[in-house]
Amino acid sequence: MNERDISFTLNGQAVSAAAEPRAHLADFIREELLLTGTHIGCEQGVCGACTVFVDGRPTRSCITLAASCEGADVRTVEGFDDDPLMKRIREAFSTHHGLQCGYCTPGMLTTAYDIARRLPDADATRIRRELSGNLCRCTGYAGIVAAIEDVLSKGAPAAELLPMSRSTPAGSVLKTRHDKEPSAPAPDNGRTTGAEEGLEAISLDDATKLTRSLSLAVSGQEAWAVLSDPERVITCVPGASLTSAAEAGALVGQILVAVGPIKATFQGRGSVTFDVENKSGRLVGRGRDTVSRTGLEGSLAFTLHEDGSGECRLDLDMRYRLAGPLSQFGRPELVAEIADRLLQQVGAAIEREARGEPAPSGDGAPTSLNGLALLGHVIKAMVRRMFGGS
Ligand code: FES
Ligand code: FES
Repeated sequence: MNERDISFTLNGQAVSAAAEPRAHLADFIREELLLTGTHIGCEQGVCGACTVFVDGRPTRSCITLAASCEGADVRTVEGFDDDPLMKRIREAFSTHHGLQCGYCTPGMLTTAYDIARRLPDADATRIRRELSGNLCRCTGYAGIVAAIEDVLSKGAPAAELLPMSRSTPAGSVLKTRHDKEPSAPAPDNGRTTGAEEGLEAISLDDATKLTRSLSLAVSGQEAWAVLSDPERVITCVPGASLTSAAEAGALVGQILVAVGPIKATFQGRGSVTFDVENKSGRLVGRGRDTVSRTGLEGSLAFTLHEDGSGECRLDLDMRYRLAGPLSQFGRPELVAEIADRLLQQVGAAIEREARGEPAPSGDGAPTSLNGLALLGHVIKAMVRRMFGGS
């Protein structure tokens, strides 16, 4: 594969080296730039060992393409040597036995720094929640949490911070970072769907595709009554809601996604069309999380099949594209595993809704799509596959 030069600022220094387009940032930093403080654990975006800062945001370097960091400001654990806040965090980890083997420690320190910077008043519960994207096999976490609490209790760490985005070094050959919003949709050369302004421009020909079938233990008629009513079907998707009543196929809504400390609220517009005769439909939409500056666009085509047994099957064809910082979680294998888990929940919710049964909690759909819980199931499945357990 052709290599190309990638240039960015690493720990305040301009760096440039050749890498393959598919090289991820963690390998690039460790193998091309020879900084081995960034550890690699799962290489799936799950364990947090590889966390570094990219443009001031904690980022999983194992699932971030090095090429996507062109012009960025990257800071690894080695880049905090002179930082007074990090000095306090390191000392507290030592005092409170916040590390044993040290494998998770670079990612833990980076996340701890982010917590101290953003949440100077965090209590132990909040610290644990923020740390939930970093796994440690040794410490039991108590020492890590105590270390961060200790740092926060000693007051206003935010006042000690070095700026996260340093000025470009003199004489640097770096390109200017394009400080722009997630990419605009590609020119229209695909299927046109939807009356909402701009949605007709969405082309998903080169988007990630996912096809699945879902068995539903209700009749086709019962399932169709739910699927053809956006206001009913939206209650079956964890974290999703319509922010205005669906009119003439036009949808305005949001979906809340939580992956450990990472929270995103994608707000957007969509359009849905139905083919009643064939019991099929297609949803197309585009959303954006303003906090993470991540854009999401995609489509969902579905067809319901009756099998004559009083039950039915739902065939789904999903296409999606993520652009922006959270696209690091868009790795197709990971999304496919998470989608399978999510579809189990959605299928059960459609069956309940079709039968007129209340949600288990009695208070409707979950308040957010819990990506961390889904990831937990995915990790367990991966471990079972690796070790051949049942
Ligand atoms: S190695 Fe990157 S998250 Fe585990
Ligand atoms: S100290 Fe060993 S994995 Fe955390």
